[in-house]
Amino acid sequence: MTRCRRILVTGGAGFIGSNYVRHTLAAHADVHVTNLDKLTYAGNLENLKDLEHDPRYEFALGDVSDATLVAHLLQEMNPDAIVNFAAETHVDRSLLGALPFIQTNVCGTLTLLEAARRCWSGREGEHRFVQISTDEVYGDLGDAGRFTEQSPLAPNNPYSASKASADLLCRAYFSTYGLPIVITRCSNNYGPYQFPEKLIPLMIYRASTDQPLPIYGDGSNVRDWIHVQDHCRAIDSVLSRGIPGEVYNIGANSELRNIDLVRRICTLLGRPETLIEFVRDRPGHDRRYAIDPTKLRRELGWAPQIPFAQGLEETVQWYCHNASWVQACLTGEYRHYYKQNYGGRSAQ
Ligand code: NAD
Ligand code: DAU
Repeated sequence: MTRCRRILVTGGAGFIGSNYVRHTLAAHADVHVTNLDKLTYAGNLENLKDLEHDPRYEFALGDVSDATLVAHLLQEMNPDAIVNFAAETHVDRSLLGALPFIQTNVCGTLTLLEAARRCWSGREGEHRFVQISTDEVYGDLGDAGRFTEQSPLAPNNPYSASKASADLLCRAYFSTYGLPIVITRCSNNYGPYQFPEKLIPLMIYRASTDQPLPIYGDGSNVRDWIHVQDHCRAIDSVLSRGIPGEVYNIGANSELRNIDLVRRICTLLGRPETLIEFVRDRPGHDRRYAIDPTKLRRELGWAPQIPFAQGLEETVQWYCHNASWVQACLTGEYRHYYKQNYGGRSAQ
C-alpha cells in the first residue's frame, strides 16, 4: 500500500474534485492537499469554503497546461501523489468548440505527466499519478453487456476523444518511462456541487422553478449513475492500493433511461411531468453506458454504499436547500452558454 501524505489535486474546485478534497481530508488525518485549479466557469471556491482555514489544505490558482507553473509547483511541494481531475467536462460545450478540451484535457495531462516524470525520476515506486478518466472513452454500448477494462476505446464526441487521448498518453508514460500511473474510468456522477448544466442539477433547478425540462431525443438514452461520494471512496482505494499501469472501472450498477430519471425528479419535487419537453437530440449522442466494476470490487475490495433512490432523494434536497449556490452559478458565462446551446433547439 502506498502512503500518500502530500497530494496534488488538480481541478479540485469543480464538482468531483471538491468532493474528493473534502473526503480525503476527512478520511486521512496525516494528508496535506494542494488544489491546483484554473477556476474556469466550472471551478468554484465556494465548494470548499469550509476548508479555507484548514492548515492541511491550500489552493493554487493556475492552469495545468502551464509547464513552468506546474514544474515549479511540483518542485516546491514534492507531492507523493497527483490526482488529475482538471478537465473541460461538458459534452455539449465540446460540440460548440473542441479547442479548450484539447488544451486542458490533452495538453494539460501531458504537461502534468512530463513534470511528474522529471520530479519523480529514480523514485517512481514511492509515488502515484491517478488519471481520472471516464466511461465515455468506451463510446456507445449496445443494448446488452457492460464496459470492462478491456473494452476498446471508441469515443464519439470531442470531449470523450480528448479524455481517451489523455488515457493513451498516460498508458505511454507508464510503458515508456515507468511512471506509476493508474487510470480510473467512472460512470455518470451525481451529488452536491455539480454545476447546474449537467442533467440532474439542471432538471432539479428547472423543475423546482417550473421551467420546461429539455430532454434530448426521445429520452431513451441510458446512463449508469453513481453517487460522487462512492466515486471518491473508489479513488481513495485506487490511490492507496491500485497497481501502476492498471485501469479500474468504477460504477454502481444503476442504469436508468433519461426520461425515467427526469420523471423521478418531478415526483420527488411534486412537479408535473407536463414540464418535460423533448428537444433536438445531441449530435453523436451515445445511447447507453454501463460499467462493469468487478475488477475494482474483487482486487481492491471497494463497493458502493449509497443506493440510487436514497442518493437521488438526498441530492434533490441538497439543491433545494442550497438554492443560493445554484443561483450563483447561474450568472455570467453560464447564461451566455445556455443561450448558445439551447437557443437553436426547438421543441419537437
Ligand atoms: P467539473 O467541470 O465540475 O470541474 C472541472 C474542474 O477543473 C473545475 O474546477 C475547473 O476550474 C478545473 N479546470 C478546468 N480546466 C483547467 C485547467 N486548464 N487547469 C486547472 N484546472 C482546470 O468536472 P467534474 O464533473 O468534477 O469532473 C472531474 C473529472 O472527472 C474530469 O476529469 C472528468 O472527465 C471526470 N469524470 C467526470 C464524471 C462526471 O459524471 N461528472 C464521470 C467520470 C469522470
Ligand atoms: O459518463 C461519464 C460522463 O458523464 C462524464 O465523463 C462527463 O464529464 C459528464 O458530463 C457526464 O456526461 P453526460 O453527457 O452523460 O452527462 P450530461 O449530464 O450532459 O447528460 C446526461 C444525459 O442526459 C445524456 O444522455 C444527455 C442527456 N441530457 C443532458 C442535458 C444537459 C438531456 O437530455 N438534456 C439536457 O439538457
